[in-house]
Amino acid sequence: MNHISYYLLFVFSLYFLGFCVARKDDQITSLNKLMESRRSENPPRVQPWTEEDTSDLSPLSIVPQQGSKEEDMIDKLPGQPQVDFDHYSGYVTIDSKVGKALFYYFAESPHNSSTKPLVLWLNGGPGCSSFGYGAMEELGPFRVNSDGKTLYRNDYAWNNVANVLFLESPAGVGFSYSNTSYATGDKQTAKDSYTFLINWLQRFPEYKTRDFYITGESYAGHYVPQLASLILSENKKTNGTVINLRGIAIGNAVIDDNATDEGMYDYYWTHALNSDETNAGINEYCGYGSGNFSATCFHYQSQSGSEYGEIDIYNIYAPFCDGSIQKPATGSVSLSFLSNTGNYNVLLFEDMMC
Ligand SMILES: *[C@@H]1O[C@H](CO)[C@@H](O)[C@H](O)[C@H]1NC(C)=O
Ligand SMILES: *[C@@H]1O[C@H](CO)[C@@H](O)[C@H](O)[C@H]1NC(C)=O
Ligand SMILES: *[C@@H]1O[C@H](CO)[C@@H](O)[C@H](O)[C@H]1NC(C)=O
Ligand SMILES: *[C@@H]1O[C@H](CO)[C@@H](O)[C@H](O)[C@H]1NC(C)=O
Ligand SMILES: *[C@@H]1O[C@H](CO)[C@@H](O)[C@H](O)[C@H]1NC(C)=O
Repeated sequence: MNHISYYLLFVFSLYFLGFCVARKDDQITSLNKLMESRRSENPPRVQPWTEEDTSDLSPLSIVPQQGSKEEDMIDKLPGQPQVDFDHYSGYVTIDSKVGKALFYYFAESPHNSSTKPLVLWLNGGPGCSSFGYGAMEELGPFRVNSDGKTLYRNDYAWNNVANVLFLESPAGVGFSYSNTSYATGDKQTAKDSYTFLINWLQRFPEYKTRDFYITGESYAGHYVPQLASLILSENKKTNGTVINLRGIAIGNAVIDDNATDEGMYDYYWTHALNSDETNAGINEYCGYGSGNFSATCFHYQSQSGSEYGEIDIYNIYAPFCDGSIQKPATGSVSLSFLSNTGNYNVLLFEDMMC
């Protein structure tokens, strides 16, 4: 939750920087100050991760999965074009006592699927759906047409080269749910994802010894290495290879906030979005790693936003808005926590948090 609100503030601030530049500079500065003060007051609570943390995993619930694979096979998604690969979706119960089940969508590769690796994809947040974002907007086999009803093939789908498993994690995200308890935290998430995997492999036994990769983005900067660590420690415990983990990949990783911020401004500068003067000011006055964000730092951060202007910072070379393909949600948000209040139009790009 802390992380989400931190990101919301971050995103809102980007909007202000990007869209309301013409508005009053002091409002931008106020928002920046608020963002920074909230952050230091209430930083995201990331749990420290050590190998010992994985020792209390048992008892793992492995339940027989006979027949479920056939039941999970998808005939056709609504509005879907003909395809030459098999895809599946369904639930895997990971805790029958509390009634917790995780939802997955699995797209096999059209060609030579039996020799291609198995790749797990995790969106971040925390709270972002791997089906809604990862599968339907990013690397899945389909994209949604602007009619909102039909699908088209994504030429750059990862299932061209791998069998891709999209997992909604943790419970409470996307279609994944729990009937009673939503105990959360990085450790619980890793443990639940691990329990999901060993049960899913019972359902799809032909993948049990397949080369396995874990990938993800954003807050998956936590999910990916933590799940990898758990898999390795479980493999060690059983003196065997329960899961044949071969590698991990993370994009836009949330691992360390200081480094992320520093890297972000460095990116603007090295991509000609910020002036030398602004970059020098940020380097001199923001002191990432020192925890010292001065008023001068805020000034340069605001200036950074004014300079890069109305662009999508996640895709700086793309047109900002293409109404014929995607329409960002627009809404009116009252930012009553600012001293100088008012209603602003805010564009919501959930991708920025996911
Ligand atoms: C959750 O509750 C519903 C309604 O009782 C039930 O159908 C479902 O199987 C339960 N889920 C799990 C994972 O136990
Ligand atoms: C499938 O695998 C075979 C044998 O390795 C190879 O000859 C063929 O080119 C592959 N087909 C595709 C489409 O990758
Ligand atoms: C794994 O190997 C160690 C050392 O050879 C042995 O003490 C332990 O019992 C083995 N564990 C299992 C689960 O086989
Ligand atoms: C940033 O670095 C400072 C100084 O090392 C540290 O006190 C602070 O906790 C770091 N912030 C985050 C969010 O990691
Ligand atoms: C924080 O930054 C301000 C402005 O650069 C500076 O005057 C002050 O000494 C710094 N404080 C610490 C503790 O580094």
